[in-house]
Amino acid sequence: MTFEEIRRNETINTYIRKADESLKALGFTEHSFAHVTHVAETAEYILRTMGYSEHDIEIVKIAAYLHDIGNLVNRVDHSQSGATMAFRILDNLQMDPEDIATIVTAIGNHDEGNGVPVNAIAAALILADKSDVRRSRVRNEDIANFDIHDRVNYSVEKSRLIINEDHTLITLELKIDTNYGSVMDYFEIFLERMILCRKAAEMIGLHFKLNINDQPLI
Ligand SMILES: [Fe+2]
Ligand SMILES: [Fe+2]
Repeated sequence: MTFEEIRRNETINTYIRKADESLKALGFTEHSFAHVTHVAETAEYILRTMGYSEHDIEIVKIAAYLHDIGNLVNRVDHSQSGATMAFRILDNLQMDPEDIATIVTAIGNHDEGNGVPVNAIAAALILADKSDVRRSRVRNEDIANFDIHDRVNYSVEKSRLIINEDHTLITLELKIDTNYGSVMDYFEIFLERMILCRKAAEMIGLHFKLNINDQPLI
C-alpha cells in the first residue's frame, strides 16, 4: 500500500472532503487536501532529514493524509474517531497490521489536549500538523468578523519548519503581519500546540524553537 494509492482512493478523498465541509460550516480554517498534503510533505521532510527509512516516510505520509478524517464524526475527539476510521479503511485495503498499528497510533495522538508523541511517526505528524499556519487557510472573507484563529492564520505571511545542519534543532520560523494578529494572539491559541511540538521534537532527538519576525520566543 503506497501513499500514491491512498491519495488516489476516491472513498478516502470523499471522507476528507466531507469532513472539511463540516469544519467549514463550523467556521474553522481549511482542513482539506491542501492541509493534509502540506502536512504529508512537512512530515516527509522531517523524517528524511533525520535519516529515517523510506518505509517510515511512506507510513508518515499516509498517516498525514488521513489524520483529520475524524472531523467527519465530530470536531471533538476527532483524533480518536479518525484513528478508528483509518483502521477500518486500511484493514479493508489489507494493509500490513504493523503499518496499520503505527498509523492508527499516530492519528490518535496528533491533537493537543490528549495527544502524546509516542513514537517518531506520531512526533513527525504532530510537528507537521501544528506548524501549518498560513493565510490561505482562512475562509472567512469578512475581516471585520475574524475570530482569533482567522486572525492568527491570516497574519502569517511566511511559515517554514527547518532543521539545522547538525540535526539538533528544529525551528518554526514565522513572519507575521501584526496588523492582523499579534504575537499575543498567536500564543493564546498556540501555546499548547507549541508545548506538544517541543515534546514531539524531543522524541526524535531535536530541540524545538519558535521564531516570530526574527525574534526567538521559545
Ligand atoms: Fe487534527
Ligand atoms: Fe490537521
